[in-house]
Amino acid sequence: MQKVAVIGAGQMGSGITQVVAQAGIPVLLSDVDLALAEKAKDRIAKALARLVEKEKIPAAAADAAVALITPVADYAPMADAELIIEAATEREEIKRRIFESAGKVLAANAIMASNTSSIPITRMAAASPDPARFVGLHFFNPVPVMQLIEVIPGLATSADTVTRMRAFAETLGKQVVQSEDEAGFVVNRILVPMLNEAAFVLGAGTASVADIDKGCRLGLNHPMGPLQLADFIGLDTCLEICRVLFHSTGDPKYRPAPLLVKYVEAGWLGRKTGRGFYDYAGAEPVPTR
Ligand code: 3HC
Repeated sequence: MQKVAVIGAGQMGSGITQVVAQAGIPVLLSDVDLALAEKAKDRIAKALARLVEKEKIPAAAADAAVALITPVADYAPMADAELIIEAATEREEIKRRIFESAGKVLAANAIMASNTSSIPITRMAAASPDPARFVGLHFFNPVPVMQLIEVIPGLATSADTVTRMRAFAETLGKQVVQSEDEAGFVVNRILVPMLNEAAFVLGAGTASVADIDKGCRLGLNHPMGPLQLADFIGLDTCLEICRVLFHSTGDPKYRPAPLLVKYVEAGWLGRKTGRGFYDYAGAEPVPTR
């Protein structure tokens, strides 16, 4: 792969940019404005510096990766990228607008991928210039740590596109699970109902935040409890995925937990806003219920 472009410089877009650069591939990074993309590059440089401090990577490798990242103000420079990865907010209208605009510069034979957590690929492919070269490429958070990428072909995605994405994942040192284009794909279809259920259990007063998480950490050997993980992902993202599962299947088992809805309405979105099921104001997260 000669060059990759990432649209969306949040948690996921930054993580994707970091692993692409660490694989030695030049990467363009954009967000709604240049300043946001530049800030994300600074954050990535800091994350790489921490890896150097911990003696995980040599300083030269961190410097080389940072040098491969170019923040850009618009999509024009993406005309020579072989792959454009959209990692914007999990809102379909925002993503469709990106596919339409970035689609105007997409090179012949280049691939457009979406890091959507749950929105149907086939439907979004219709907003791209060539659905045969459109694919779901779902990374997991934190991207530099998690080994998995889900590859999701839409109805019209070509076999060549899938083969190239499998090879790309391998270049990044990741493993692939291929999923049919069904809401939530494989992992979120299983994970998000569990996180939602934890919010139901909390709302019912069955146990405290601390005990629900402790139960799953110690009883299931999960690295994080479900409420801690929901905060880590972002409660708005969890709710959005829940709603996609609920509306696309029509199955009431996916209805969002009222407490999850309330937290999102309050702006308590988890770690990124300093409060969710835990309060992150102090040195250690404090359970809120
Ligand atoms: N970026 C890079 N590296 C990170 C990191 C980050 N944000 N956070 C942690 N790490 C690294 C650390 O450097 C450390 O590396 P080392 O073992 O080589 O020293 C390793 O991860 C472990 O970190 P810590 O010791 O600091 O902390 P933990 O042992 O508590 O691990 C965790 C942190 C890896 C986040 C672990 O708690 C975990 O695996 N949690 C579950 C994460 C998960 O389920 N993610 C998937 C979410 S679902 C999703 O993303 C899909 C989306 O569509 C919703």
